[in-house]
Amino acid sequence: MKTIKVGLLGLGNVGTGTYKTLEMNRKHIESNTGLSIEIAKILVNDINKKRDILVSPDQITQNIDDIILDPSIDIVVELIGGIEPASSYMLKALENKKHVVTANKAAVAANFDDLMDAAKKNQVMFRYEASVGGGIPIINALNTALLANEFEEILGIVNGTTNYILTQMTEYGLDYADVLKVAQEKGFAEPDPTADVEGIDVANKLSILISLVFGIRVPIEDIPTEGITNISKEDIRLADQFGYKIKLLATAKKVGNQLEAHVQPAFVPKDHPIASVSNEFNAIFVTGNAVEDLMFYGKGAGPLPTGSAVMGDVIEISKAIAKGAAFDHHTESKAVKMLRYVGEGQNKYYVNMMVKDVPGVLGSISTTFGAFGIGVDSVLQLSKDANINREVPLIFILHEVTRARLDEALNKIRSSKFASEIKSIIRVM
Ligand SMILES: NC(=O)c1ccc[n+]([C@@H]2O[C@H](COP(=O)([O-])OP(=O)(O)OC[C@H]3O[C@@H](n4cnc5c(N)ncnc54)[C@H](OP(=O)(O)O)[C@@H]3O)[C@@H](O)[C@H]2O)c1
Repeated sequence: MKTIKVGLLGLGNVGTGTYKTLEMNRKHIESNTGLSIEIAKILVNDINKKRDILVSPDQITQNIDDIILDPSIDIVVELIGGIEPASSYMLKALENKKHVVTANKAAVAANFDDLMDAAKKNQVMFRYEASVGGGIPIINALNTALLANEFEEILGIVNGTTNYILTQMTEYGLDYADVLKVAQEKGFAEPDPTADVEGIDVANKLSILISLVFGIRVPIEDIPTEGITNISKEDIRLADQFGYKIKLLATAKKVGNQLEAHVQPAFVPKDHPIASVSNEFNAIFVTGNAVEDLMFYGKGAGPLPTGSAVMGDVIEISKAIAKGAAFDHHTESKAVKMLRYVGEGQNKYYVNMMVKDVPGVLGSISTTFGAFGIGVDSVLQLSKDANINREVPLIFILHEVTRARLDEALNKIRSSKFASEIKSIIRVM
């Protein structure tokens, strides 16, 4: 049986999950492929760290060259994370004619072109299925079974930590800070949760999906990105009253020849399939012009689900090596290159403000929205929730408007004698 040798960079959560997936299913993989896949060398930071899998000391190294310069290694699997040194290691591996597999969304989003170009130039394959949606095979589906489509829209819940937090806040009426603490204790959130709760992780994944689906490169700095740290249990309760759930959404949408994209918490109608995606689960909803609506659902993180996606890429490459096949390059869509990226575009909004409990308030504020061309869809005044200053919450769902225009109108409302505070502004899907 032919042996394919793999060099693993990193033996943390996903490295260990990848190792375990291979060992757990070795017989099945061998009988399906007729190939033996061997993890020949593993790069780590700390050679003395106790691991929860048994690896022989001569399998472990702290020297990247032991992998990248080893002519017997066919595939390098990068699972160390972060943009550097991961990107440099991957580029070096590609230049040394190694095929590369990664789960690293930060590195792929930041260096998509360089990695693709290096793979093409060196006639090797570069695969990154696990970088978006963990175990969900969305990249492969977009690159194979769905190639016959042009896409109008992608919509995703692609971060398990924030979806877990929002789900718990919704189900138990809890505050963000309390749920975050429990999520950290249970291992659903990192000790430093910034990249997750501020939406950065989601923006990386959206940037990768946009490259694939719409064929244009949008760096994460250009994607309007907002996390979930300002979402209150009151927002969640009010969303429920209006018939919505709050989800952190990655959205990219074609409007004519323009592309709109953003990462923001949003009110999602309860009857939309993506509203029922709970806790650590992820889902990606795409609309193709032939296939129509599709939703991919599953575990977006975790050692074994992510290890499954990594091993899928490794097996696909191994089969191509064994066949001596010409290496295909999953590339971005060429069909829609003419799109112009415009940021976030127009959206419906929920606005929750505190106003004086006096006659004429609702009329005055609605008139100001009207003067800025903003239509009011629905309104809710909660007199029973008045505070000691006799200020009451006034909640609007507004028709489509740009965020800049909405902010202008809200500045005007803020400076009026009626409104004391704009408490939240959340997009409505
Ligand atoms: N965790 C998930 O569920 C998940 C899901 C999808 C994608 N991903 C992506 O997968 C990648 C890995 O995530 P993870 O959760 O497995 O990370 P992790 O648990 O922190 O593991 C990182 C591993 O890389 C090694 N490492 C880090 N920097 C290194 C360096 N400069 N040189 C050599 N080795 C280095 C560490 O060595 P030591 O063990 O010696 O410290 C560790 O084994 C990231 O890109 C992440 O975004 C993760």
